[in-house]
Parts: sequence; C-alpha cells; structure tokens
Amino acid sequence: MASAKVRIARDLTGPILDLGGGGEGVIGQIYGRQAVAIDNRQEELDEAPEGPQKLLMDAAQLTFPDASFSHATSFFTLMYMSPGIQTQAIAQAARVLRPGGSLHIWDAVIASAYPEPFLIDVDVDAAGTSLHATYGVLKDSAAQDSDYFLHLCQAAELKLAVRQDHDGWFYLRLQK
Ligand SMILES: C[S@@+](CC[C@H](N)C(=O)[O-])C[C@H]1O[C@@H](n2cnc3c(N)ncnc32)[C@H](O)[C@@H]1O
Repeated sequence: MASAKVRIARDLTGPILDLGGGGEGVIGQIYGRQAVAIDNRQEELDEAPEGPQKLLMDAAQLTFPDASFSHATSFFTLMYMSPGIQTQAIAQAARVLRPGGSLHIWDAVIASAYPEPFLIDVDVDAAGTSLHATYGVLKDSAAQDSDYFLHLCQAAELKLAVRQDHDGWFYLRLQK
C-alpha cells in the first residue's frame, strides 16, 4: 500500500471551500468553522466530524457566486472523480476563488487502480493535531500525477505557486 506523511501548517486565513469534505473531513477537522465542506454524498457529510459548515453539492457544479473564497482545498478527493469531473471541479474551484486566492491539492500518484484497487495510508500532522486515514479507489481511468493536475489547473488559468512531489503523493498550490 502507498503511504503519505502530510504536514499542514494550519496557516490559511479567510474562508476555505473544501471539495469532497465528507468522510474523514480532514480539512474541516483542522480549520473548523473557517471551512465550508461540500460533498455530493450526504452519508459522507454525516460521517464527517462536526466543525465546518456541511453542504450537499457537486464539486463539478458549485452553486457559490464567483470570488466567494480565499482558498479551495482538495484533500485526496480528486482521485475519487472521473477525468471529466476532475476538469470541471478544478474549473469551478478557480471560478469561486477570489483574485489572489489559492487552490491546494493533496493527492496520490496512481499508476493503476484496476483490477486491483489503489490504496493509500495517510498520516496528517496539522500543527499539533495528528490524524490518520486510508483512502482507496477501484477504477480503470485512475492514472494520475502532479503533472496531470497541473495541466488541468493551468487550463483553468491558475498559476503554479508551490509544487511538492513525494513518493506516492504530491501537493500543489495554485494561485488565481
Ligand atoms: C473519501 S473522501 C476523501 C478525502 C476527504 N477529502 C477527507 O478529508 O477525508 C472523498 C470524498 O469526495 C467525495 N466526492 C467524490 N466526487 C465528488 C463530487 N463530484 N463532488 C463532491 N464530492 C465528491 C466523495 O463523496 C467522498 O466523500
């Protein structure tokens, strides 16, 4: 199984939109009421710890006005989407960011997730808070890496600010 040790500085200011923020809801656990967690599955939102505002919404069809958020985050969420939905979700995140705002992507490097599922064990150190989660997908169009998402972000007119490539996972910060 792949593994990731992720450090999150807990230094974002302003409103945060967390894409696919159900399940473990890592960003919501770290930022609490500063975050709005959207997810297209109510049961995943129900499962996520209390803290952020939770809204049932498709990341590919965000209903927020343009320029609503200082930050958008996707914490091991894009790996759960098809390529077409990934493209739409990134374009929508760019739309709802304020000028100068940032999109933060933490995700897995996946060579294949079929016929064997892809699994990644994630340990998070968020300025004193330790969290653990295991994420997995089974799909035949799963191949992805930081280059792939960087191109999608650049097509949405976001500019690369930070890129960290690790063994099995990556972090990208893009600026509007
Ligand atoms: C398993 S979670 C992964 C990690 C989650 N961000 C966390 O912090 O634990 C992925 C979530 O993305 C959600 N998701 C997948 N496609 C989505 C979409 N198009 N719009 C919104 N949420 C989506 C899933 O329902 C699921 O809750």
